[in-house]
Amino acid sequence: MPLIVRRARPGDFPALQQMLELYQYDLSDIWPQDADTEAKYGYNLERYELDERFHAHVALEGSQYAGFALVSPAAVTRREGSWMEQFFVLKRYRRTGSGRALALHALQSHPGPWEVGQMPSNVGARAFWRKVISEQTRGEFVEVQVTEGWWHGQVQQFHVRAAA
Ligand SMILES: CC(C)(COP(=O)(O)OP(=O)(O)OC[C@H]1O[C@@H](n2cnc3c(N)ncnc32)[C@H](O)[C@@H]1OP(=O)(O)O)[C@@H](O)C(=O)NCCC(=O)NCCS
Repeated sequence: MPLIVRRARPGDFPALQQMLELYQYDLSDIWPQDADTEAKYGYNLERYELDERFHAHVALEGSQYAGFALVSPAAVTRREGSWMEQFFVLKRYRRTGSGRALALHALQSHPGPWEVGQMPSNVGARAFWRKVISEQTRGEFVEVQVTEGWWHGQVQQFHVRAAA
């Protein structure tokens, strides 16, 4: 079944909340967070529903959710443009190009300056993003190491051109 990538609609938010639970658990060995007394991480998605500066995107295979991208205003190394706040592909759909398709859709939905970051030990994600960003920008990106501020890791800075 072909993969569909699109902006999230109001009806997608319960699935987004559930995928965030899976995402936070999946990354919990490198992104230590406590689940609450009901064993939920409870990521707050409110700004993605209410604030037009925050954008959620989803990937589906038929009616099955395969992943999501959360795009926020630039937050780490830039004052303008977009930051890939969270990005996840469910394990069943990995290494089949789903992440690439979702990432290219999310990047191209928000032309302008971009920053994408990976936590220091997320080696697979770094290889993934280097490949996707290289494809999107034809290799025109810079990588910086962020060691100060609220977020630490490797950040790729680049520009996404508006579609002609
Ligand atoms: C990182 C992630 C989004 C990749 O999704 P995916 O659907 O498997 O990615 P794709 O199949 O589109 O991969 C495209 C290319 O990226 C590279 N790549 C993807 N995952 C990789 C990994 N774990 N290690 C090395 N390279 C990888 C490969 O070059 C791959 O092409 P190939 O499969 O032909 O070799 C997914 O593994 C994931 O959700 N991980 C957990 C959450 C996470 O780390 N999110 C990112 C936070 S910055």
